[in-house]
Amino acid sequence: MKTICFANNKGGSGKSTTCSNVGYFLAESGKKVLLVDGDMQMNLTLSLFPEEEALAFAAGENLYTAVKKEADVRGCIRSSAYENLDLVPSSTLMSGIEFDLFTKWQREYILKKCLQPVKDEGKYDYILIDAPPTLGGWVMNILAASDHLVIPVEASPWGLFGLSNMFEFLSDVKPVAPGLAVAGIAVTKVDGRKNYFKQTLETLKELPAHVFETCIHLDSSIEWSQDNSKPVGKYRPSARSSKEYRALAEEVEKVCR
Ligand SMILES: Nc1ncnc2c1ncn2[C@@H]1O[C@H](COP(=O)(O)OP(=O)(O)OP(=O)(O)O)[C@@H](O)[C@H]1O
Ligand SMILES: [Mg+2]
Repeated sequence: MKTICFANNKGGSGKSTTCSNVGYFLAESGKKVLLVDGDMQMNLTLSLFPEEEALAFAAGENLYTAVKKEADVRGCIRSSAYENLDLVPSSTLMSGIEFDLFTKWQREYILKKCLQPVKDEGKYDYILIDAPPTLGGWVMNILAASDHLVIPVEASPWGLFGLSNMFEFLSDVKPVAPGLAVAGIAVTKVDGRKNYFKQTLETLKELPAHVFETCIHLDSSIEWSQDNSKPVGKYRPSARSSKEYRALAEEVEKVCR
């Protein structure tokens, strides 16, 4: 079983979209997948459940309540409408998580501890964790609980700005998460009409990380699928982004062995 997180301090870089859709295609290929929504924005939860249901989860047992109690997350796993795909929902209360962690003993490892019973049970092939756009104690928890990191990067000048902070943070985190490997950078929201994309790829090649071959293009099917709380592969299987996320999921599977 492998735990893969999707993190980048840059907001809107495609973390939640990539986590959700890679998760869906891994599940579709027969792998048992548990998605973990680590962000107070609840976007991963909303990618699979309509707003009313997501808000009901947020009011009940969810990742925030489990972390606060340092409890087994199995108490808040929800089955999705799709085979092999389950979710640990988030809550807007996660906004206070840094404060809650502050007084805990071994506070970098609370999430790892909450996920341990899932790992021990061996029911899932993958745990995929969606991180918020920050670099702090909570993201450190996410990295310390993961075997692999996927960094979604938006193909834009500001998408690249700040990426060096992410790599600096990773070296700071090394003593806390010695087993974490950077699986690669996934280039997202590519506008094929613009030449700038080639510039992005050149710049990314200079970084000490693998860049996935599959790039995800801008595609309004992504927004429509999210508006309908469905993975794009289910909402519009023939969409360009659907084919791209299927290919990216295959690459992620190969790298994260
Ligand atoms: N390939 C795409 N085509 C069109 N829109 C996209 C694509 N990928 C993501 N988006 C849109 O871009 C926005 C940001 O994507 P997403 O929420 O996945 O990024 P994020 O990194 O998780 O953001 P945050 O940092 O806020 O958590 C969303 O509105 C999403 O619908
Ligand atoms: Mg997000």
